[in-house]
Amino acid sequence: MSGMDRPSSTPFRFPVAARYAGMESSPLKDIFALAAKEGVTSFAGGIPDRELFDLGPVQEAYDWVLTHRGHRALQYGVSEGEAELREQAARRISRTLPTDASQIRVTSGSQEGLFVVAEALLEPGDVVLVESPTYLAAVQAFAVHGARMVGVDTDEEGVIPEALEEAIRTHHPRMVYLIPTFQNPTGRTMGVLRRRQVAEVLQRSDVPLIEDDPYGELSFTGSTWAPIASLPGMGERTLLLNSMSKLMSPGVRIGWIRAEGPILDTLAVAKAAISMQSSVVDQLTVARYLETADLDAHVRTVAEVYRERRDAMARAIAPILPEGAHVTHPDGGMFLWAALGEGYDAQTMLADAVEAGVAYLPGWSFFAEHADRSTMRLSFVTHSPAVIEEAIASLGEVIARHPR
Ligand SMILES: Cc1ncc(COP(=O)(O)O)c(C=O)c1O
Repeated sequence: MSGMDRPSSTPFRFPVAARYAGMESSPLKDIFALAAKEGVTSFAGGIPDRELFDLGPVQEAYDWVLTHRGHRALQYGVSEGEAELREQAARRISRTLPTDASQIRVTSGSQEGLFVVAEALLEPGDVVLVESPTYLAAVQAFAVHGARMVGVDTDEEGVIPEALEEAIRTHHPRMVYLIPTFQNPTGRTMGVLRRRQVAEVLQRSDVPLIEDDPYGELSFTGSTWAPIASLPGMGERTLLLNSMSKLMSPGVRIGWIRAEGPILDTLAVAKAAISMQSSVVDQLTVARYLETADLDAHVRTVAEVYRERRDAMARAIAPILPEGAHVTHPDGGMFLWAALGEGYDAQTMLADAVEAGVAYLPGWSFFAEHADRSTMRLSFVTHSPAVIEEAIASLGEVIARHPR
């Protein structure tokens, strides 16, 4: 044994960066563990129904790309994203906000988009204002860059403009992060007037907006909402994130950021530092799919199925909620949000629920601060109405056994 050797009884432990300390697990990792548990009907994840994937046209697009663009598809690409995909993305966004392909930066899903944004904009100690509650994995992407999240009060239409203005005055945030349409986790949508009021606040205070819109096209009513980025004066001060995950496939990992001006260069540099570029074969395939398939028709079909499931869950959940509880009734997207009310703890209740064969996501993790522990997020998209009804009935029995 040389002097450098040491007994191997203590296992080696990598020193971990302070910003990841205590994050050995994450609520998001736990969702997927719950969703995978056998015999459990999980409403925990925002996981599209795989039976609804547009498999044939996607396969045709992959075949076409590998047959006609094979050498390019398998080679390195550019950090900004492949031209064909940027053109298709610009074409879709231009329905409500005139956009050129040069204003698109491709990302590997919106989750990477949020990371790219954080990388490009945030200094340790910066404040990010978020809706209360908001998307937990965005909070995580910002937090590992040293940002401090401050939650802004919301009502049935999302963030309250007066509360936003007050929070900006108090906290001097680096940016505001909002999900205005079919929000995760509440399913709520900001109306047109509310969007204008929020835009006015942001323009008065000169704070940039990160507008995350992965669900906007999944409308159950036929109505869609133009992004806040499309309001006068907002295009230049908004980074708009879109994703193919909920519309076409989360497995392809393709999304994009729409921006204007010099920040586009910084976003490309940040993207290059993180992953060089997104998968070229997947980018070209999504571009081909968008060019040749009818994504709008596909989304209409999916939304029709999701609407039936929303109805099934809304019907099943109403009678099982305790008096004074509140549940949202979203016009699109994937989630219902229930607040059981004072005295209930959805986290404590989860073990019993899983035991009874049903899982949801406790709501506390969606709050940057002042968590309402009686809340839960339920995704209605993954299971059939019959399965939903049965599992919600089981949840009702669990709630009844947990009186406040
Ligand atoms: C609001 C929001 N933003 C971003 C994402 C990330 O999605 P993806 O990386 O699959 O595009 C999700 C996924 O659930 C989400 O709900």
